[in-house]
Amino acid sequence: MEGRRLSNRDTVVIARELLPAGDDLLAERFEIRRGGLDASRQQLLTLAPGADALVTDLTVPVGDELLDACGEGLRIVANFAVGYDNIDLQTCRRRGIAVTNTPDALTNATAELAVTLTLAAARRLTDAERTVRDGRWTGWAPGDFRGIELSGATVGIVGLGRIGSRYGELLRGFSARLLYTSRSPKPEGEALGAERVGLHELLEAADVVSLHAPGSPETHHMIGREELDLIGPQGVLVNTARGTLVDTDALVAALADGRLGAAGLDVFEGEPEAPPELLAAPRLTLAPHMGSATFTARDAMARMVAEDVIAVLEGREPAHRVA
Ligand code: GLV
Repeated sequence: MEGRRLSNRDTVVIARELLPAGDDLLAERFEIRRGGLDASRQQLLTLAPGADALVTDLTVPVGDELLDACGEGLRIVANFAVGYDNIDLQTCRRRGIAVTNTPDALTNATAELAVTLTLAAARRLTDAERTVRDGRWTGWAPGDFRGIELSGATVGIVGLGRIGSRYGELLRGFSARLLYTSRSPKPEGEALGAERVGLHELLEAADVVSLHAPGSPETHHMIGREELDLIGPQGVLVNTARGTLVDTDALVAALADGRLGAAGLDVFEGEPEAPPELLAAPRLTLAPHMGSATFTARDAMARMVAEDVIAVLEGREPAHRVA
C-alpha cells in the first residue's frame, strides 16, 4: 500500500508483523499499514511515509534512511524485542522520537531456552540424535556421547541482567556454583550466591559459559579464539543474546579442533543464513533465534508494543522507553 493518510486517525506502520495480541489493540484505534514478513526494504520505505508510529523488530535496521522515509510526524519506534541493537538510538533521540522495547515479558522464555541449550550442548544431544536419525547408531557403548553434568558444575554468566539472573536462578536447581561478570556488583548476584569475577577468570573457571550481554560495539566478538581456549576442551558455550558476541570462525575452528567442548547457540552472525562450516561443526546445538518463542512471552511482547504505541500517540509516557 502507498504511504498516504487514509483518515484523520493516526497511522501505525508495522514494518513486518505484530501478533494479534498487539495488532488488534492498534487496529481498534489507528490506521494500520503492515509490511508483512516478506516485505523488502524498498517496500518498507514505500509504506513508511506519514507514519505516526513505527513497529519494528530485531531484523529491521532503524536509522536515518527509514526515519526520513517515515517523515516528520513519527513519534515512536516500538521494537518487538528486548534488544535494540537494530536501532540507532542517538539518531532517534536527536529527532525527539521515543524508542521502546519489551523487557520482562521474555525473561523466563529466554532463560529457559538458555537452560535447554546448556543441557543439550552439555550432553551432546544434537550429535546423538543425528546419529540415531541417520541410521548410524550401532548400539550402546561405554565411551559414546560423553558430556558433562550440571550438578555441581561451575557456571559463568556473562551479563547479569534480567535474563542472566533468571538463568542463574534456574541453574541453582542443579546445585551449580555461579560466577558472573558485570560492570558493577549486582544485588541479584548476591541473592543468587554468585561471585563477581573478571571475564577471563570466569572463562577459565567455568564449565559452562552463558552469554547474556547486549549486542553493541563493545561486546562485538567478545568471545574469540583466546576466550574459547579458556573455556576449554570440556567446556560449554551458550549464546542466547546476540550472534555478534561470538567470532563464528573462531568458534567453528575451536569445535573442529576439539579445543572447545560443545556449544549451544540460539543466535549467530549473519542470521538467518548459517554458514556451511557452522552447520557442519561437531558438538553444536543450533536454534533459529527462538529465545522468546513461547505463547506467553510473544503475546505479552505484542501487547507491550501496542500499549507503548497507544501511550505515545495519546500523549502519555510509554512504560518501556529506552530513548
Ligand atoms: C530477542 O532477541 C530480543 O531481543 O527480544
